[in-house]
Amino acid sequence: MKSEDDHSELLPSPSHNHHRPRLNHRTVMSAAIKKLSTPTGFFIFLILSYALGYLSHTPPDFSQSAADLHQLSRFSTQCSKAVPPPDVRQTILGRVFNGTSPWQNFPPSHIHNMLFPDWKKGWDSENPVFGNLIRRVRPKIIIEVGTFMGASATHMADLTKQLGLETQIICIDDFRGWPGYYDDDKSLKMVNGDSLLMYQFMHNVAKVNATESIMFVPFSAGTALGSLCEWGVYADLIEVDAAHDFQAAWSDINKAFKVLRPGGVLFGHDYFLAEDNFGVRRAAELFARLNGFRIQIDGEHWVMAPLH
Ligand SMILES: C[S@@+](CC[C@H](N)C(=O)[O-])C[C@H]1O[C@@H](n2cnc3c(N)ncnc32)[C@H](O)[C@@H]1O
Repeated sequence: MKSEDDHSELLPSPSHNHHRPRLNHRTVMSAAIKKLSTPTGFFIFLILSYALGYLSHTPPDFSQSAADLHQLSRFSTQCSKAVPPPDVRQTILGRVFNGTSPWQNFPPSHIHNMLFPDWKKGWDSENPVFGNLIRRVRPKIIIEVGTFMGASATHMADLTKQLGLETQIICIDDFRGWPGYYDDDKSLKMVNGDSLLMYQFMHNVAKVNATESIMFVPFSAGTALGSLCEWGVYADLIEVDAAHDFQAAWSDINKAFKVLRPGGVLFGHDYFLAEDNFGVRRAAELFARLNGFRIQIDGEHWVMAPLH
């Protein structure tokens, strides 16, 4: 058995260095070049370069604890200079629809018979909160995040018309609904896996002659709000009513706030919804606390209000 100290076989012999032949630079270089010109040498060279590149890359400055979570999850985008409200509709038409109204030649003939002539499902879509805020803010631009079939959007269009306002309402929805919603009440026909939700929304808007006051951005909430920020599209009134889990509501509220005009009002549905352990309520309350607001309740909606 070897003792713990017995490392003799690992050590160089005492004469190890004395017998090494002296190599000059040129010999070493030409040996290296020769090695590199073989396929194996070249392969080793590639691996070494990759490893060196990887090791020299500086990673973001993460701390070992979760203390930096708040710092890392900031929504810090600087939005563009504001487009004047009368130009907002044209901006979206240009950016999203190639300059052509999506209602031109609507509905396509193969879709026509698949839409419900009269079906506009919504949730608290005509609550007094809409009238209360529209009368108070008299908005030129409204953004709705989460529109479904347009029940609350068309209600808001009707209210603004009654007040003689020239308001443009921008609806954000990916028009995918959620898994299983087709089974609620009635079902839209599925066409190759598409539920036709966007077409039903468009039909409902056209039916109440609101195609001039309602425009839509048919993408995910985060992407659409980020794009509005990039294009300089701001609103005086923003309703958040898309997904109801904390993470989604938190992201939507923060991104929506970026495109809210100074003095505008942010509000949202489902303050009392128990989904995700009251995810919407937690997100709205946290945002209010971190940004110096308080939450007011109006029906089932929360409204972001100044502290005093
Ligand atoms: C409760 S419904 C909106 C109802 C509508 N405000 C009303 O009362 O008439 C929620 C909508 O949000 C949309 N939605 C959910 N998550 C989304 C996301 N991440 N991006 C875009 N839309 C989303 C769904 O497609 C659905 O149409």
